Amino acid sequence: MNRIEVCFSPGEYHLYERDFDLVVVLDVLRATSAICAAMEYGVGEIIPVATLEEAKNYKAQGHIVAAERGGQIVDGFDMGNSPYSYMDPKLKGKTVVLTTTNGTKAINMAKDKSTVVIGALNNLDAISTWLIEQERDVLVLGSGWKDKFNLEDTICGGAIADLCLASGKFYADSDSTVAAKFLFRSSRDNMFSFLKASSHRRRLRNLNLNEDVKYCLTPNNCKAIPILKNGSLVLLNHAPTSK
Ligand code: MLT
Repeated sequence: MNRIEVCFSPGEYHLYERDFDLVVVLDVLRATSAICAAMEYGVGEIIPVATLEEAKNYKAQGHIVAAERGGQIVDGFDMGNSPYSYMDPKLKGKTVVLTTTNGTKAINMAKDKSTVVIGALNNLDAISTWLIEQERDVLVLGSGWKDKFNLEDTICGGAIADLCLASGKFYADSDSTVAAKFLFRSSRDNMFSFLKASSHRRRLRNLNLNEDVKYCLTPNNCKAIPILKNGSLVLLNHAPTSK
């Protein structure tokens, strides 16, 4: 039997991480949803960097660099964090460097683990099925908002935990995992409306990014599983559903 736990935010990562060597990072609104969309639509690799300083260095070397802070594209960079911007045929096969407020920070926190994969509601079934096949302990890390709990990552973590636990191959020890599962179960029939209460959803609505939110809250619109290899996120599986 393997263990699965949900860690609500990077601020609590130190309390969980020592027991796990496989980490699934989530940032449903919007970094990991955008990364899944990018892989689904053929972007070659994404280099996740935690700071704007690192992003600027890559930009100076001529890379395509995406940078988001507080939901907005940072001035001077090529793009931000909208999943739609990664569906551009011009990006097929290309390398994109990405820095975001919370998501790329969480990915970098976990980078010393032997396996780091990217989850979202968008690849919920694909990532859960793959995790069940691994027969390893799994930590699901929500990116939260500035080290605080957030609703959307917790619900997605609860959905992954629910599917893994239902396989009969996992157990959970922490109340955070039980709470995430219950939140998912209370919201699953009307996630879009339930998540009206999410602070980042309000932030994105104020920035007129409702279409992004709708995309990010749509379960299973992609099959891509991005995995971290030598500091870059690449496609683990090769079963794109979209052109
Ligand atoms: C983040 O990393 O905090 C986000 O993805 C923010 C966003 O662009 O919506």
